[in-house]
Amino acid sequence: MTTGVAVVGARGRMGAQACRAVAGADDLDLVAEIGRGDSLDAALGADVLVDLTVPGSVMSTVEWALAHGLHVVTGTTGWTDARLAQVRRWQAAAPHLGVLVATNFGLGAVLVMQFAKQAAKYFESVEVVELHHPGKVDAPSGSAIRTAQLIAAARAEAGMGPSPDATEQELPGARGAVVDGVHVHAVRMRGMTAHQEVVLGGPGETLTLRDDTYDRAAYMPGLLLGVRTVAGRPGVTVGLEHYLDL
Ligand SMILES: NC(=O)c1ccc[n+]([C@@H]2O[C@H](COP(=O)([O-])OP(=O)(O)OC[C@H]3O[C@@H](n4cnc5c(N)ncnc54)[C@H](OP(=O)(O)O)[C@@H]3O)[C@@H](O)[C@H]2O)c1
Repeated sequence: MTTGVAVVGARGRMGAQACRAVAGADDLDLVAEIGRGDSLDAALGADVLVDLTVPGSVMSTVEWALAHGLHVVTGTTGWTDARLAQVRRWQAAAPHLGVLVATNFGLGAVLVMQFAKQAAKYFESVEVVELHHPGKVDAPSGSAIRTAQLIAAARAEAGMGPSPDATEQELPGARGAVVDGVHVHAVRMRGMTAHQEVVLGGPGETLTLRDDTYDRAAYMPGLLLGVRTVAGRPGVTVGLEHYLDL
């Protein structure tokens, strides 16, 4: 039996790739390709609705999907605690349905975060370096901030203090931004796409975890994993890592 999938935002960069990925999967059936101005009713009959749009439209789409019995996988960004709480209220009215909110479908990127979290307590020093194309408007990246927060929480839980650093004078910015006590450096570089390193250091050794994403194709294995898993995970799940067997 195949899983019926409707993609909202189908004419966008992520949505178009998602349609191709779903259409190419033997166990999935692309039921609808919905763009701006199209009726969501085209998704009726699908099992899973995939939303890859904009923060301004995702909420009403999720509400519609849950009201019409569809599981939801969304990669759209712009989530806040208040928005997630609203989605939880809608989902509570349809408790058998699953919602995956995953602002990063990149398996490598998600794994670097989880591995960094696991490694954090074993190393005295840790810094995060993210490197992106020069068209990126925010710095540091959301993934780098999240990575630093996860590392900081793991260090705090292990009772660790700040990474050693004797700096007394510095040019502003030389040591990067500080997120929950973890230094985060942002590089903007023509020729690069989306890259992240976590460097951990202890006496006589360093460990570098690095993910390089070159193309939106990198997001498709994670997205398909979400589509295949969501029906078996009722409730609202935030982050693809919860669907990984770690
Ligand atoms: N989870 C991840 O790993 C990941 C990775 C990359 C990007 N993203 C996020 O995924 C989303 C899409 O990214 P993208 O790069 O594909 O952006 P994009 O190329 O701008 O595509 C967004 C698409 O959504 C459409 N859209 C807007 N409102 C809609 C509505 N009400 N109904 C149906 N379609 C609507 C847009 O149509 P118009 O062009 O007509 O406005 C556009 O085709 C963004 O939120 C982005 O931040 C997530």
